[in-house]
Amino acid sequence: MFKIPRGTRDFTPEEMQKRRYVEEVMRSTFKTFGYKEVQTPTFEALELFTAKSGETIIDELYSFTDKGGRELALRPELTAPVIRFYVDKLQMEPKPLKLFYFGNCYRYDRPQKGRYREFKQAGCEIVGTDTAEAYAELVALAFKILEKTGLKNLKLNIGNLNILSSIFNQFKLSKDQQKYLIPLIDKSLFEELLIALRDFGIKNENANTIIDILQTSDINKIENFLKNDDAKKEVVELKKIVGLLSESFGINNYQIKMSIVRGLDYYKGLVFEIEAPSLGAEKQLCGGGAYELITLFGGKETPTAGFAIGFDRTILALEIENHCFPTFGLDIFVIPVNDDMVKKALEVTQNLRKKGILTDVDLLRRGISKSLKYASSLNAKKVIIIGPNELEKDAVTIRDMESGEQELIEINNIIQKIN
Ligand code: HAM
Repeated sequence: MFKIPRGTRDFTPEEMQKRRYVEEVMRSTFKTFGYKEVQTPTFEALELFTAKSGETIIDELYSFTDKGGRELALRPELTAPVIRFYVDKLQMEPKPLKLFYFGNCYRYDRPQKGRYREFKQAGCEIVGTDTAEAYAELVALAFKILEKTGLKNLKLNIGNLNILSSIFNQFKLSKDQQKYLIPLIDKSLFEELLIALRDFGIKNENANTIIDILQTSDINKIENFLKNDDAKKEVVELKKIVGLLSESFGINNYQIKMSIVRGLDYYKGLVFEIEAPSLGAEKQLCGGGAYELITLFGGKETPTAGFAIGFDRTILALEIENHCFPTFGLDIFVIPVNDDMVKKALEVTQNLRKKGILTDVDLLRRGISKSLKYASSLNAKKVIIIGPNELEKDAVTIRDMESGEQELIEINNIIQKIN
């Protein structure tokens, strides 16, 4: 017996129906916001991912050398691939360019519930604008997509990396010191952070102020604390973004959170995350923000921003919330009562399928009662029984599987009866 590789999953037909349903909800929401779908390859040149993050990221990747000696990697995310595609072929497209995608991603993570080595992302990138309305619309889209799937319990946090680094710079913390502090901030380890700040020579009072600013959601308090003019400008922009988010997109339940640092190295400025608190340790459903990759990939500088939603975590969160997914099943199951009726059963089946009706037929010649059981296991709404006596009258029996009621219907009237 072969075992499935660690961190990967098989999906049953029922799970696939749920997944396809949620994917369609997400796809149509992207489209209502004017985004167009793109697809990129599952593997890319390894360098595409090391260009920004350095060689250390290789430990987190599925990378390999192909038979032609090329260094490749299964994509851990789709932002770098989509920007590679943009620089290669889409730079001349009218701006802003709004692109969305669905794709499997691969990370050499330690697997646990909600964290897999193969997982699916739904995401988007907007190229060519950095207005407050573009950013507000982007954050709103991420939130609306998750709401549209049916999720009730969502937490939206919004931060800004330029403001965060300005807080660091105000206390003259070196780049190396910042690098040490960032994982502590990311994990909200504020006690450890306090110790580290003191070790770096920050006075107790100032260290407490830094931690206070990282924990407050009061944007005015953050503004008053900042001394640097550029950082103050960022606060003004952030205020505009959240203002629009609430006035134009009706999203009021967000929190300002300066401790958002994001794991990937390409972000700058606006960053945001959406959590499903019910998921526990792996509660982050969505992450995104403004970033810079285009010039690194040889393209002409223009602003970029985007986000990606963890598709698998979205399904998990819906299941935890006991979300009522639409029921999926067959419209019709056709049963020939004996071998002589098989041809007619196939003919009726094919006529229904041609009309787009989800129809299956007994392929085992196993008689009515066993076939009815099978039809019920397939969630068939109705069963058509083809028997010699009825056929003589050019008719069939239709049975409603919920009520158990049966009716004799002329073959020519089947479609009207079903609709
Ligand atoms: P990310 O935060 O690394 O961002 O991933 C986005 C989402 O993918 C996460 O919030 C999480 O739900 C899901 N995810 C990540 N790793 C795993 C895993 N091992 N198993 C299951 N789900 C996972 C990005 O990937 C950026 N490219 C987002 C972006 C787009 N930023 C700008 N544009």
